[in-house]
Amino acid sequence: SVIVPSVQELAKESTTHVPSRYVRVQENDNDSTMDCPINQTSPVSVPVIDLQRLLHGYSKDSELDKLHLACKEWGFFQVINHGVSISLLETFKEEVTNFLKLPMEEKKKLWQQEDNHEGFGQLFVVSEDQKLDWCDMFYVITLPPKLRKPHLFNNLPQNIRVIMEAYAVAMKGLAQTILNHMAKALGINEGEMVELFGEGWQSIRMNYYPPCPEPHKAIGITPHSDADSLTILYQLNDIQGLQVKKDGNWVPVIPLENAFVVNLGDCMEILSNGIYRSIEHRATVNSTKERISVATFHSSNIDYELGPAKSIVGPLNPPLFRTEPLKQYYRGFFARKLNGKSYLDVMRLQQG
Ligand code: SIN
Ligand code: FE2
Repeated sequence: SVIVPSVQELAKESTTHVPSRYVRVQENDNDSTMDCPINQTSPVSVPVIDLQRLLHGYSKDSELDKLHLACKEWGFFQVINHGVSISLLETFKEEVTNFLKLPMEEKKKLWQQEDNHEGFGQLFVVSEDQKLDWCDMFYVITLPPKLRKPHLFNNLPQNIRVIMEAYAVAMKGLAQTILNHMAKALGINEGEMVELFGEGWQSIRMNYYPPCPEPHKAIGITPHSDADSLTILYQLNDIQGLQVKKDGNWVPVIPLENAFVVNLGDCMEILSNGIYRSIEHRATVNSTKERISVATFHSSNIDYELGPAKSIVGPLNPPLFRTEPLKQYYRGFFARKLNGKSYLDVMRLQQG
């Protein structure tokens, strides 16, 4: 990956203009960053799923129907009553904030290297002249432990490392619960789910969006769909920024207190053979307030083959996507710029 400067440091220089490398409008690189209107007037809002209702199946599984519909029509929902300890979240919030505000001297030790995209920096930067997002990221593989990079993980400050391990385990549990309910709704059998997600693999990306002097010209995160199966996003403050593309409009996601935002990635669209949808989303920035979010990405076992679930495809439901090793798929995804949902087309089989 290409090494990029810290946006946080840039923002401290109290400039009144966004440097040209971050200007995303009035340009012709047609990356569709600013292309569609923001839906301010008719506030359709993303579905909310109550995990306790889902677990206890009140009134004939209606919450499961809700989940199924949310996954088909949105690929996106917020989850409440998720059972994750609020005190764990409070500590995590505090430590993530401290970590993202470490002095540059400390962060440099954890900066990305050219041959490895984990660490501080930005992802999906593949050329020197590529436009950049108004965001600093810290990206790290968390589970299974054998996939952690010793040079990175072991050098994290103790406080963040300890709480992140606890958070990673809590997120894996929540992801498993949600994935198992999706499988139930889709008719994927339990044995196949265990084969797919038993070990699984997980990574965490912390996003820090500093205030931006010209927020309408820059973007926090380029529109994209996630590569993984299931992303759980924790918004650390109640600053709006996340938007999802629904029926051609950008719909703002209003942060709910003590809720997680869950979104389906391209792997889930593939796994469900197109029944569920990954969703395009982006993050905008504002001129006065910093915003912090943490995305936890869940994928099937790293040594597994990615493709439509074997227990749901057949003559009546022929596979719409090809099957390939998950590692190969990720190598392809990370080698490109982020660009909407375009990578899914690479996996799509030609029909007829
Ligand atoms: C993302 O992970 O796609 C951005 C999430 C956000 O900061 O809201
Ligand atoms: Fe994302």
